[in-house]
Amino acid sequence: MKRPPMISPELLERIIDASEDGIVVAEREGEEHILIYVNQGFERLTGYSTDEILYRDCRFLQNDDRDQPGLARIRDALIEDRPCREILRNYKKDGTLFYNELSITPMYDEEENITYYLGVQKDVTERVEAIAELERVKSTPKD
Ligand SMILES: Cc1cc2nc3c(=O)[nH]c(=O)nc-3n(C[C@H](O)[C@H](O)[C@H](O)COP(=O)(O)O)c2cc1C
Repeated sequence: MKRPPMISPELLERIIDASEDGIVVAEREGEEHILIYVNQGFERLTGYSTDEILYRDCRFLQNDDRDQPGLARIRDALIEDRPCREILRNYKKDGTLFYNELSITPMYDEEENITYYLGVQKDVTERVEAIAELERVKSTPKD
């Protein structure tokens, strides 16, 4: 089999930064999962720079909008060390609402210990709003 070409760490970083989606790494600290890496896609998506958010738990993106069923499912998945995927209401630095399809994957080291959590954030606002509009049209009585 042909060996795949080597990708240097610099090229790998450029590839990860080119992603339109947010890609973050968090580690557990007590009850929290604090960010230790965010790519440029995350900065573009949220409007926050790395310096502003490093070592914080990602829940700051929810502002005060904490009554969301997906959050309990994320909490359960994190406690049980399961991967999960949920759509959340999140807010950019300027306060703009966006729908965030968040997937979280626990990562294990060679001794099967969880070391990091990989998070990928995809902006699905257009899709969520189109579905809501479709529902609205369907439920509007015709004359
Ligand atoms: C790797 C990772 C990425 C996360 N990314 C986000 C995010 O982009 N937006 C968000 O609202 N919550 C995100 N979370 C979830 C929050 O950190 C937190 O787990 C969630 O709010 C539920 O817990 P809480 O009720 O204690 O806040 C992420 C969690 C992890 C582990």
